[in-house]
Amino acid sequence: MKNLREYLLWAEENKIALGHFNISDSGGFRAIVEAAKELGVPAIIGVSEGERDFLGLNEAISLVKTARNSGFPIFINADHTYSLEKAKIAVDRGVDAVIIDSADQSFEENIKRAKNLVEYTRRKNPDILVEAELGFIGKSSNVLETLPDGVSVETQTDPTEAAEFVKQTNIDLLAPSVGNIHGMVKTGNPKLNIERIRLVKKATGIPLVLHGGSGISDDEFLRAIDAGISIIHINTELRIAYKAGIEEGLKSNEIAPYKFLAKGVEEMKKVVKNRLKLFNKL
Ligand code: G3H
Ligand code: ZN
Repeated sequence: MKNLREYLLWAEENKIALGHFNISDSGGFRAIVEAAKELGVPAIIGVSEGERDFLGLNEAISLVKTARNSGFPIFINADHTYSLEKAKIAVDRGVDAVIIDSADQSFEENIKRAKNLVEYTRRKNPDILVEAELGFIGKSSNVLETLPDGVSVETQTDPTEAAEFVKQTNIDLLAPSVGNIHGMVKTGNPKLNIERIRLVKKATGIPLVLHGGSGISDDEFLRAIDAGISIIHINTELRIAYKAGIEEGLKSNEIAPYKFLAKGVEEMKKVVKNRLKLFNKL
């Protein structure tokens, strides 16, 4: 089976994007695996620091690797890791990819941390991909009243800076700020800056990751993929669907968790399937 690096090349060649979905528990995992299996496409499972504190990093890795050993292309990413120490622990435990998130730090500090992690990871296991973020897009996969503090058109990633960042750090994947935000604003999310994606891709030449995929229209996603996006992250939409499904499941005074949680899984799976169909152009 191809590894994640090879799947990224495959995605670029086929002008599609790999779907990355966050989970907090094994119900979320099931929703993603079932959706991806039914469509016959690869998928990436994301666990942020909070999510992996709840589920357990070893447990998350074990779920993913068990499914992969049965022949299914599914990968695990240690999403949004704010400390180098936690990022290195994730590398030691054997994730497929890790993100050092220092987007709210200075350019120099961001480079320093990303470079440190790349060097560490290459020594430990060069197959593990390292991603860094350049340009702040907020931190919360939640429903928001307004744009996250500190996010504006000015915080969008500068292509020249991005090229310098990649050159100095040698990262495998770059998450730029291109009009995307984490979370969904009640009045609607900003539009993606497609031209900026194209310019950052051209300047860096490495696969780009679009974070904050919730609340983006189908048409924008397709144009973003065409401009150079190779992985798309979705979380808020999954959380909303999971919660709504569970609330529905609880209406009948059901007390069996495997019954009321199954409703959440069902709703989450619908969202994942729709997004995967679009990202894989099926
Ligand atoms: O890393 C996770 C994501 O970037 C998800 O963003 O909650 O806006 O979909 P989202
Ligand atoms: Zn993200």
